[in-house]
Amino acid sequence: MDPIDRSTTNHVAGTQGYAALAEALVARWEQVSSAEHHQSVLHLIPKTPSRVLDIGAGSGRDAAWLAAMGHLVVAVEPLDAFRDAGMARHRGHAIDWRNDSLPDLATFAGDEASFGLVMLTAVWMHLDAAERSRAMVRVAALLGAAGVLILTLRHGPIPDGRRMFAVTAEETVPLAQAAGLRLLTTQTSASMQTENRRTGVTWTRLAFARE
Ligand SMILES: C[S@@+](CC[C@H](N)C(=O)[O-])C[C@H]1O[C@@H](n2cnc3c(N)ncnc32)[C@H](O)[C@@H]1O
Repeated sequence: MDPIDRSTTNHVAGTQGYAALAEALVARWEQVSSAEHHQSVLHLIPKTPSRVLDIGAGSGRDAAWLAAMGHLVVAVEPLDAFRDAGMARHRGHAIDWRNDSLPDLATFAGDEASFGLVMLTAVWMHLDAAERSRAMVRVAALLGAAGVLILTLRHGPIPDGRRMFAVTAEETVPLAQAAGLRLLTTQTSASMQTENRRTGVTWTRLAFARE
């Protein structure tokens, strides 16, 4: 008998609790307009076609939006259900989907200093402290000379069955600086999703450039 119940386990801990809700979450995430969601950092998104990395891409909403701007987008998503849904939904866009995960991004060997933009939207809270330290170094190494990192930090109650940790700007900014990045902006906002707003979820958005 197979000792592992593959219907309930996933090798990437941060995806815990997502598979059972994948269909509903994809529908919910796709209702959000990427342009509205990222409006406050639009000026930091490269103006000319660039290599863009969307880590924890979920349904591929932002990956498709960035591809439509002419960027060469790599979408990293460790959960099969999200990746499959994203590939199907956004098949009209040339997105390079990867089954990979933080902190190591093992499929990116040789891609150092090659990305103009790295997006980490609603992902950082899935990593524990040790993973966050390693992930920041890895992500910073993937940024090109003019590269920008945009990430969001979730604050608020943790849904049942999900693996999330408290993340703060106070921890994240020094981590990024130690990895050679310079803070461009710090912004705070309420959640765009009605249900999360109701439960008091708020977000911090940080952007960094190479020093
Ligand atoms: C809240 S969703 C955000 C999805 C998408 N970025 C968005 O804004 O709609 C968090 C995503 O992070 C992914 N994730 C969890 N742990 C991860 C890890 N260690 N590395 C990369 N992605 C991870 C999940 O599978 C999920 O797609």
